[in-house]
Amino acid sequence: MRSKVVVGNWKLNGSLAGNEALLKALLREIPRDNPVACAVCVPSPYLAQVRALLEGSGIAWGAQDLSRFDQGAYTGEVSGRMLVEFGCRYVIVGHSERRSIFGETDEVAAGKYVAARKAGITPIFCVGETLAEREAGSTQAVLARQVDALLRAYGAPGLERGVIAYEPVWAIGTGRTATAAQAEEAQAFIRGRIGAKDKAVAESVPILYGGSVKAANAAELFAMPDVDGGLIGGASLVAEEFLAIWRAALAR
Ligand code: 13P
Repeated sequence: MRSKVVVGNWKLNGSLAGNEALLKALLREIPRDNPVACAVCVPSPYLAQVRALLEGSGIAWGAQDLSRFDQGAYTGEVSGRMLVEFGCRYVIVGHSERRSIFGETDEVAAGKYVAARKAGITPIFCVGETLAEREAGSTQAVLARQVDALLRAYGAPGLERGVIAYEPVWAIGTGRTATAAQAEEAQAFIRGRIGAKDKAVAESVPILYGGSVKAANAAELFAMPDVDGGLIGGASLVAEEFLAIWRAALAR
């Protein structure tokens, strides 16, 4: 059975003082031998602070993006090698905000996945349809296109070293969570798409749900057979909410 994974995505939020208060509140409850894989993905300037606070704890940390390139004339980029120096275990790639606001294509997202694996970091590869795509009945076609780009770039066998996150764009930051049945349907489809290439890998790869996960709906989502945890935005900024979501994962 796959164990649960709970990852906070702080997005463009945080301050030195606020980060410290939030992480200290999490550390009061989450033990060193945390049986749930748990992490926070923070803005890169805070990585040193977060490492200092979380080293040796039951909470890992990571970044929200990385460069496809290792080094050179790429102003503004941060490489996987640099993230490793700050102890990052995870990096989010292909988040819908990167895709829609910063123009990242399926190929760029897949290239970032490859770069993360080369650096030894666990990528969290995000996929998901927009509301218009769902209403047009093309959810599965969109998910297939996004997953296939990854399968082409990296191949199925290595995917067990990474994480997939299904984040329907219409559920992100909107308070409109996918129903547990909608999440399950999409995530079973994603697993099947990988399974057509490699059944064993498909069975072992964690697939998270993201999009308005909160204390009130986490347990129901995590009860679904293909929902292996959550990628949490807004609720990861509130200690009590994030802890309640972690507890829901712990209880599974
Ligand atoms: P919210 O939990 O704020 O909807 O954000 C989800 C998300 O985008 C996590 O990556």
